[in-house]
Amino acid sequence: MLPVDSPRGVGDAEFVQSFDALRIHGQDASADARLVRLSRDDLSPGDVVIRVAWSGINYKDALAATGKGRILRRFPLVGGVDLAGLVVESTHADVPVGARVVVTGCGLSETRDGGYAEFARVPADAVVPLPASLDLRAAAAIGTAGFAAALAVHRLEHNGLATGQGPVIVTGATGGVGSIAIDMLARRGHEVVAVTGKTATAGAYLRELGAARVVSREELGLSDRALEPARWAGAVDNLGGAMLSWLLRSCQPWGSVASVGLAAGSDLSTSVMPFILRGVNLLGVNSSATLREPRLALWKRIGSDLAPRHLDRIVTDVVSLQELPGAFARFIEGSNTGRTLVRISGET
Ligand SMILES: NC(=O)c1ccc[n+]([C@@H]2O[C@H](COP(=O)([O-])OP(=O)(O)OC[C@H]3O[C@@H](n4cnc5c(N)ncnc54)[C@H](OP(=O)(O)O)[C@@H]3O)[C@@H](O)[C@H]2O)c1
Repeated sequence: MLPVDSPRGVGDAEFVQSFDALRIHGQDASADARLVRLSRDDLSPGDVVIRVAWSGINYKDALAATGKGRILRRFPLVGGVDLAGLVVESTHADVPVGARVVVTGCGLSETRDGGYAEFARVPADAVVPLPASLDLRAAAAIGTAGFAAALAVHRLEHNGLATGQGPVIVTGATGGVGSIAIDMLARRGHEVVAVTGKTATAGAYLRELGAARVVSREELGLSDRALEPARWAGAVDNLGGAMLSWLLRSCQPWGSVASVGLAAGSDLSTSVMPFILRGVNLLGVNSSATLREPRLALWKRIGSDLAPRHLDRIVTDVVSLQELPGAFARFIEGSNTGRTLVRISGET
């Protein structure tokens, strides 16, 4: 084990030797994610070195590793848009050696090496100290998906959503963002309607997380009228495309729709009717580029009033770095349920 409490960190010790990483080479048809051995000089620069305990699989990770989406902006890069681990080396006074930290977004697996490696080197301003109530495994289980869910809930409530106004709908409900959004919204006292393509298999799961009702995408009967009956006090959308357009048209007056994802498409076709006749808000969610101050504040909330209550249920799989390449396909197919953790050192 590495000497995390060593006054000089581990800079001259084991870290200089080689370590395992899942590195992505190329994109589109030539994308190739494979296990390699790296050394410290291979990692992108930064003032903090983290021994990675856990990472996770997000839809974006699957897009990057399979080449189905253009996520990486340079090659090769270690994959993994989030990580949780222990600081083993730091040149920044605010980030002490031995700190337990989480990093989500901030260019991981986009412009700099990510969490699918035994070590990561990142800039200090990307590093978030763990709230006392979360251990490293829980922080990774929340990860980018949970941070995006928290940002969506925060933005909905900040724009007026309160309990008792009516149902809040969550699409892509069985995914990582959807599952954690349901948990957080239910914990906040909202009546949650979960929309899924997996009603046959996932109804019990979604109710356990706190959904009051589970409906299939087909059941919603998406039409193309300029306005639908006003049903939702709020919405968290992970799909984009026709679903996002329909959510805007079926939102209550002064209600809000948080646009988080594009699992079904990146297009948005809408008239201005939801906005000028009902005062509906369309709220953007960008977890990766959230500024430092709100990022820290939101992680504090994730450790307190937004803390998911069913993380053990939401984590449906744990894979090793070696098993990771085989785990991406189900995210692309949309057959995934909940969060998949990637065990690196496995410390908690
Ligand atoms: N804006 C941000 O900061 C941010 C952060 C994280 C994630 N995201 C985005 O949010 C979305 C969800 O992310 P995630 O990590 O939760 O992904 P995920 O775990 O792969 O879940 C996505 C879910 O969407 C549904 N789905 C998948 N493919 C679909 C399709 N073709 N048509 C309709 N539904 C489909 C499925 O749920 P059901 O079967 O239950 O419908 C699936 O489980 C992704 O688009 C991701 O890129 C954005």
